[in-house]
Amino acid sequence: MTAGTRDIEKAAGVLRAGGLVALPTETVYGLGADAENPAAVSRIFHTKGRPPSHPLIVHLSGAGQLDDWVADVPETARLLAERFWPGPLTLVLRRGTRVPLEATGGLETVAVRVPAHPVALALLSAFGGGVTAPSANRFGSVSPTTAQHVRAELGDAVDFVLDGGSCEVGVESTIVDATGETPAILRPGGVTREDLEAVLGRTLAVPSTSHVRVPGQHPSHYAPRARVVLVEPGKVVAEAQLAQELGHRVGVFLPASLAGTPVKAHAVVTVPDSLAAYARGLYGYLRELDHAGCDLIIASLPAEEGLGLAIANRLRRAAGPRTTV
Ligand code: TXA
Ligand code: MG
Repeated sequence: MTAGTRDIEKAAGVLRAGGLVALPTETVYGLGADAENPAAVSRIFHTKGRPPSHPLIVHLSGAGQLDDWVADVPETARLLAERFWPGPLTLVLRRGTRVPLEATGGLETVAVRVPAHPVALALLSAFGGGVTAPSANRFGSVSPTTAQHVRAELGDAVDFVLDGGSCEVGVESTIVDATGETPAILRPGGVTREDLEAVLGRTLAVPSTSHVRVPGQHPSHYAPRARVVLVEPGKVVAEAQLAQELGHRVGVFLPASLAGTPVKAHAVVTVPDSLAAYARGLYGYLRELDHAGCDLIIASLPAEEGLGLAIANRLRRAAGPRTTV
């Protein structure tokens, strides 16, 4: 059930007391703590099993708070904040003195965003301060897009879970480094490259990993338990069949164009044509195939336009080599 006013008050109290609150955002669920409480921030890293050098995003209730949290707001950053907040855009800017180094992994920059979810915004307003929140999953695994995912993965390690239903966007925010003259995309996400370029009137660099075709060069992240193998869209059915015959329990991401095609596999998810629907469902599909007991997932990449850029980025990372960091 969606959180009400009393839940919001309770959650704000937990944050004030240095506790951890899982909160819904439009992208994925976050694991939140008071950004100005170093002990609470450290608990996030401990709970996720995340190395403390990995910086967190500070969530704010509105663009009006920006100047309280960062040292300098270049014109470009101001423009992007005005245009895309609240929304799935994170800006990396110079760290303000309010932000402890624990939250930035020791960096002199800080990532900030204003989420577009009524429950998140209500919590941020009731709390008043900034809330550091990585995705509410164990380090390296699939991000949660429902409160049930959070409870299943983190259980009692979280002091309070705010339920805000299923996340509307389904993949994480787009991260833009806005510290310099030329903004750059550090992670593709819910705000598309095309939308950013239209507002800025210039083309943007995207991380090189988005262009690398060979899976296996990126450390695994956003990964289910099952191994993910990426193949050409036209080969999904044949590859799945072959792997199943070789004894794997195969899960298939079947392109919508092939819906209804009989596939010899353990479990099949038909991925929608609409990129927005695909992004919304992506992490749920990976969880579903894990849950079905698959040990191998055969998928293909969508065209890297619009939200397809973020989907392809997450699939490549899911297919990357497994690390034990
Ligand atoms: O949609 C989202 O962004 C979600 C929701 C909960 O807001 N949060 C999220 O957080 O995805 P997390 O911690 O899973 O990913 C944050 C990313 C990390 O890859 C981190 O390296 C990057 O943001 N980041 C944070 N601060 C940074 C900084 N100062 N410079 C460069 N990258 C930074
Ligand atoms: Mg994450």
